[in-house]
Amino acid sequence: MRRTPVVATVGLAVLVLAAVIWAVGRSDDDDPDRAAGGASSITSTTAPSTTAAPVAGTPGAAGIGDPYFPGLGNGGYDVDHYDLALTWLPDQGAIEGVTTIDARATQALSRFDLDLAGLEVTAVTVDGQPAAATRDDRELVVTPATAIAEGAAFTTVVTYGGRPRPVGDGTDLFDVGWQIDGDEAYVVSEPAGAGTFFPVNDHPRDKATYSFEITAPADQVVATNGLPVGDPVDGPGTRTWRSQARDPMASYLVQIAIGDFEVVDGGRAGDVVIRHVLHRSLADAARVTTARTAEMIDVLDDVYGPFPFEAYGVLAVDEDLGFALETQTLTIIGRDIATWGRRADDILLHELSHQWVGDLVSPATWQDIWLNEGFATYSEWLWSERTGGPTAAQRARAISGTRADLDTPPGDPGTEELFSTTVYWRGGMALQALREAVGDEAFFTILRRWVDEHRGSVASTEDLVALSEEVSGQDLDALFQRWLYDPRLPRL
Ligand code: ARG
Ligand code: ZN
Repeated sequence: MRRTPVVATVGLAVLVLAAVIWAVGRSDDDDPDRAAGGASSITSTTAPSTTAAPVAGTPGAAGIGDPYFPGLGNGGYDVDHYDLALTWLPDQGAIEGVTTIDARATQALSRFDLDLAGLEVTAVTVDGQPAAATRDDRELVVTPATAIAEGAAFTTVVTYGGRPRPVGDGTDLFDVGWQIDGDEAYVVSEPAGAGTFFPVNDHPRDKATYSFEITAPADQVVATNGLPVGDPVDGPGTRTWRSQARDPMASYLVQIAIGDFEVVDGGRAGDVVIRHVLHRSLADAARVTTARTAEMIDVLDDVYGPFPFEAYGVLAVDEDLGFALETQTLTIIGRDIATWGRRADDILLHELSHQWVGDLVSPATWQDIWLNEGFATYSEWLWSERTGGPTAAQRARAISGTRADLDTPPGDPGTEELFSTTVYWRGGMALQALREAVGDEAFFTILRRWVDEHRGSVASTEDLVALSEEVSGQDLDALFQRWLYDPRLPRL
């Protein structure tokens, strides 16, 4: 695809001291979203670099290699940490941001990409030196002043702003990314929306830790993944909230919520701090709805091993979302589910279980989505089984043969059916079929080892087949083939 140059460089190089003035801005002035973008150029002064032998790098790939989303993620580097400093301007529906990205080059890099959708970039530096930046659809292409050596750690700072707009990602349900509802803002990114509010290597394969410094109007409350660091700091009419997510996290799981929230103590489950973030207008109802969280953590601890993160809780926003999303340590739900009381048990259990299967262990590619949704569905059935309801075998058989749409193979649903029923139900049924083939002891060993051996990382369907065969000593190719890839729904 053609690249659009957007960097105008006014370079004034003097032999003794080089003063370089960079003006970086998007050229599409007709974009109405630019209105709130803030300054469109910056000035910085840099000393001349006394360089050693120059590195000859090559461009990092524009995608990480996901078969369903070729443009998602990038090649040539691995991010360790993102620092997101964002100011939320609800009157303009806009953000002003500075994202600092600590990464390591996995090849010698002449340039590299970040994923960023919309917004206006006003400055990019790499290791303190101004870098050239161009936009190409949802890619931000960064060319550092000097190439980066393979294995080198480097820090990129991107200054940007504008009105974040959710993007369509082909999964056909709704647009993902930063969501605005009046004064309230929150994030629903799965699978490809994180780039709507920060420049990111947007793929689960590149997990990182995060720190947040979010500034909002003084009367609003900010909540993110992880836990707060200190008390919020007041400015003129504003309040700045710092927090940290210490455990590596996939970008689609980042949550930043800003609104009229009440932060509610949900007690503890062992060492796990439970805190819910509930829109004030539905806090009373949501307290009741979320009351079984600790009990649910206990049941899942027993299935998958200890809850993997420092905190957990539910974020309830003031809008009927029609779904929930397992944003790490802080599952987001809407007004609808928040007011369901006990009827929400299944879905709350489902999102909680994603903290192990989905968040701690994430899909290696988006084609592997059933590893999230099939496992989370199966977790609902285990909860039922362990709390006096129908067994998993009964839940799975209640589905068998009831729906024609289960003839779509969950192991390769395609982007448009990424979140379709088959991925959830037939995915769960596949695990029941596995359980019946290998027996309970092997099956629960597989679940535990699955989580333990891939914690903090990603895993693929092939990894699950290999582990299941190792634990059970059986050849299971035919079973997984039937359940995951053959068109027709098998019978249990
Ligand atoms: N992972 C969410 C859930 O379990 C589903 C989110 C749907 N996301 C989407 N982009 N359509 O239940
Ligand atoms: Zn799910």
